[in-house]
Amino acid sequence: MLGDADNLIMSNAEYRMFCELLRTRCGLYFDDSMRFIVEKRLARRVAKLELGSFGAYHYYLRNGQGGDDEFACVIDELTTNETYFFRERRQLDALIHEIIPEQLLRKRHAGITTPVNIWSAGCSSGEEPLSIVMLGLEANLRPGIDFRVYASDISSNMLQKCRAGLYREASFRETEPILREKYFTKKDNLNKVSESIRKEIDLIQINLIDRSKVALLRSMDSIVCRNVIIYFDLETKKQVIGTFHDKLIPGGYLLLGHSESLINVTNQFELAQLTDDLVYRRPGLGNEIADPWQTLAKAAIDEVDEPRRKSR
Ligand SMILES: C[S@@+](CC[C@H](N)C(=O)[O-])C[C@H]1O[C@@H](n2cnc3c(N)ncnc32)[C@H](O)[C@@H]1O
Repeated sequence: MLGDADNLIMSNAEYRMFCELLRTRCGLYFDDSMRFIVEKRLARRVAKLELGSFGAYHYYLRNGQGGDDEFACVIDELTTNETYFFRERRQLDALIHEIIPEQLLRKRHAGITTPVNIWSAGCSSGEEPLSIVMLGLEANLRPGIDFRVYASDISSNMLQKCRAGLYREASFRETEPILREKYFTKKDNLNKVSESIRKEIDLIQINLIDRSKVALLRSMDSIVCRNVIIYFDLETKKQVIGTFHDKLIPGGYLLLGHSESLINVTNQFELAQLTDDLVYRRPGLGNEIADPWQTLAKAAIDEVDEPRRKSR
């Protein structure tokens, strides 16, 4: 009976204990509507470890030897990892054709030779950062020289998938056939991303609420954190967005998912209207330089677009 997941029942008090553990350790928020899912998925773990009850499992997670490793399994059971290539393409296009060229030109004008640093925070199995590299290449930007992509997730399982670079059909629901042909090869029933693309991503495991780990990252020019904070409670959202603010250079951009906003979270960011999208920006460029900056930005876009136009 110890190993039978179907017979395990989670009490109200136990559900609250697990919710609190998930909230404090990784910021994830579960309301009562999620109870059935949490109970069902954690029951599998209790049964596998033959612990006999949710209470014993909670104790094991908190105090048992191997509790931290087991918590990684809890994360894999309870996080939503849904993602696909070129998701919210309009926003990725804004990053590639407006934001990176602006930031690159600012750097070069200031005599800085380093690439524009972009952090895909909560990258799941890697479709988001890989899309950025592919679209960058398509726009004649040079990965590693013009821009560098850092990608992180809390889940070691997702990062492993990212390293393997093998993707199922579902990841290609928004992929143009021409890009798929160019950057992927068939491997059994899966699709392998070209190694030259995959190696352009610096992968790191980061729990976004772990300030000491985030502090190890360099300053970022832009942070892409889409469909991640939506799962956090308000307190965690405020903390994580505060961390992003501190990690971004003044004038750096924060790209959230289209269903996410900073209303009631913070007023530390301003909204920046791009040609086809509205994104958040860390303030820091005074009005007195806003105009020349926009002129520079326009020149940068032209500079990057010119070879593309010629190649058509
Ligand atoms: C729905 S996916 C989003 C993937 C991608 N950004 C996109 O929009 O397609 C959410 C990801 O956030 C990660 N995540 C959840 N909580 C996290 C935390 N505290 N720290 C870092 N990543 C977290 C999950 O593991 C999951 O892979």
